[in-house]
Amino acid sequence: MENNKKVVTLVYGCQMSERDAETLTEITRHFGYSPSDDIETADLVIVNTCCVRESAENKILGKIGELKKLKERNLDVKIAITGCMVQQPGALERLQKRAPHVDIWAGTHNLHDFSALLHRVEQGEKVAEVWQEPKATLEITPLAEKGKLHANVNIMYGCDNFCTYCIVPHVRGRERSRRPNEILQEIESLVDSGCREVTLLGQNVNSYGKEFSPAYDFADLLQQVNQIAFLLRIRFITSHPKDLSNKLIETVAEGEKLCEHFHLPIQSGSNFILERMNRKYTREYYLSRVKKIHKLIPNACVTTDIIVGFPGETEEDFEQTLAMMNQVHYSQAFTFMYSKRTGTLAAEMEDQIPLDVKKRRLQKLMSVQNQESLELRQQMIGKMVEVLVEGPSRTNPKRLTGRTRGNDLVVFVGNLETIGSLVNVRINEAGSWTLIGEVE
Ligand code: 5AD
Ligand code: SF4
Repeated sequence: MENNKKVVTLVYGCQMSERDAETLTEITRHFGYSPSDDIETADLVIVNTCCVRESAENKILGKIGELKKLKERNLDVKIAITGCMVQQPGALERLQKRAPHVDIWAGTHNLHDFSALLHRVEQGEKVAEVWQEPKATLEITPLAEKGKLHANVNIMYGCDNFCTYCIVPHVRGRERSRRPNEILQEIESLVDSGCREVTLLGQNVNSYGKEFSPAYDFADLLQQVNQIAFLLRIRFITSHPKDLSNKLIETVAEGEKLCEHFHLPIQSGSNFILERMNRKYTREYYLSRVKKIHKLIPNACVTTDIIVGFPGETEEDFEQTLAMMNQVHYSQAFTFMYSKRTGTLAAEMEDQIPLDVKKRRLQKLMSVQNQESLELRQQMIGKMVEVLVEGPSRTNPKRLTGRTRGNDLVVFVGNLETIGSLVNVRINEAGSWTLIGEVE
């Protein structure tokens, strides 16, 4: 087999999308492709897409347009468009009309069957395949690239929550959990190849294993992952607040490798909006969960996702979201303007909010969060934090960089030999997003 072919994989969207892109790249390896960053010399370009907001789709459509020009310059290059955007009902036909230069179209459910598609394309065909349902037997994840310090590991796929704004359940299907042994084996083999930190991925990790008998839940899985030798840290995303159990908080409090970081998307601080979003919790319940976290884990970090301008959101509703930020003190908040997604319930709701109002609310939210983040990080000055050393800092190669247990980025003076291990760093300076310090 020819062995000098190059694949460039572009990823849009969340960590699941990143993980899927790794799977696709891994599959191409079996066809003799090696990963590259140079699109001009690529033999295959894969674009793994996202459709969670219109802004992501617009960016991707722009990229697909650019790839048309690439194809005009180089007729031999193959182009694959995969993932969430393609999986949306009715999307394939629309996209195909718009981009006849694409060689492979595949949805989220048949990514694991990408080798069959690639094989056909290598024979000169153009292929388009989107399965309506996943086939469980094909969801075997090939190993990620060797020697990486951090890896994302899927523990479950899909989502059953149907938040009214969200397209994810429509493109990633119903919730299904991987068997614990399969997950543990994957992590053990990652650790054997040099990995020291894993992030366990699910749209709602707190409902992991709900179909298992005998009962086995996410906290049970964390306890087992915590036993894996040479693994240093375990992270997990995303926690739906409605399912965050005391058992899970207690497990994180006790597990040595379990990072004290909860990504707990609130989406809105108004009970009226939360109900319209079908989030199934109230602001009071959410606050009680945060209180429980801080009671059992005083130094825990809480991060969140917030949407502004959901249909029907009044100034008062928005004020309640701001009030929530002042109460919880998020160390980071990912903030979004509501984006209408065809096929979701919220897209049909009246009282859509005008763009200028959404923009104003987003600006306000971001400035409140910047201030919160700055204050929280400045409180770290003079303290010691545990950092997993990743390597030289990109902005300042004389310094090292790594992350705290709370997932804060730290730039520090240290020793190159500590890359891949845990060190204690004293914090001397802090900005909104970065801590600066030195190894003691
Ligand atoms: N519009 C804006 N933001 C959205 N999100 C999901 N769907 C939409 C939408 N239609 C946000 C939510 C979610 C994050 C991953 O993306 O905040 O938690
Ligand atoms: Fe979307 Fe809600 Fe599922 Fe998260 S929990 S993926 S926001 S439907």
